[in-house]
Amino acid sequence: MRQMPFIVNGRPVSVDAADHTLLVDLLRGPLGLTGTHIGCDTSQCGACTVLLDGAAVKSCTVLAAQAEGRAITTIEGLAAEGAPLHPVQEAFVVCHGLQCGFCTPGMVMTTVDLLSREPQPSAECIAHALEGNLCRCTGYVNIVESVQTAARAMAEGGAR
Ligand code: FES
Ligand code: FES
Repeated sequence: MRQMPFIVNGRPVSVDAADHTLLVDLLRGPLGLTGTHIGCDTSQCGACTVLLDGAAVKSCTVLAAQAEGRAITTIEGLAAEGAPLHPVQEAFVVCHGLQCGFCTPGMVMTTVDLLSREPQPSAECIAHALEGNLCRCTGYVNIVESVQTAARAMAEGGAR
């Protein structure tokens, strides 16, 4: 075990971790950021998706040591407590892009990454971007609509 520094949701932190500690376990354990979910632990479901230096990664397949010194954003970091939701979060609410909500943090983080690279994605592009995020509930139609709605909102209101 050793102290590893990270920037988590904009805040510098230092956490005691082993070289083999998974990033998702670091987030959910010592950092208490349980909005990042574990659905499979084998890189299939996408529920554990976070941003690493702005790019979506499945945190169940990233070692904490690989993220050392880097910026990690979790679902908790998209909007400050009491502040308006991030446009992607808002769109998932408005468009009913979730049912049980288990997959939603991963869906939202993948969408934030997608819209940072592709501000006006086609439905095909959205489907491709979300192919690593599985949802057992919604059938994906409302999820795609949520992404399109978020894209429009961010184009009108300025990207975040
Ligand atoms: S828990 Fe990481 S992809 Fe499923
Ligand atoms: S909303 Fe239940 S798994 Fe997606």
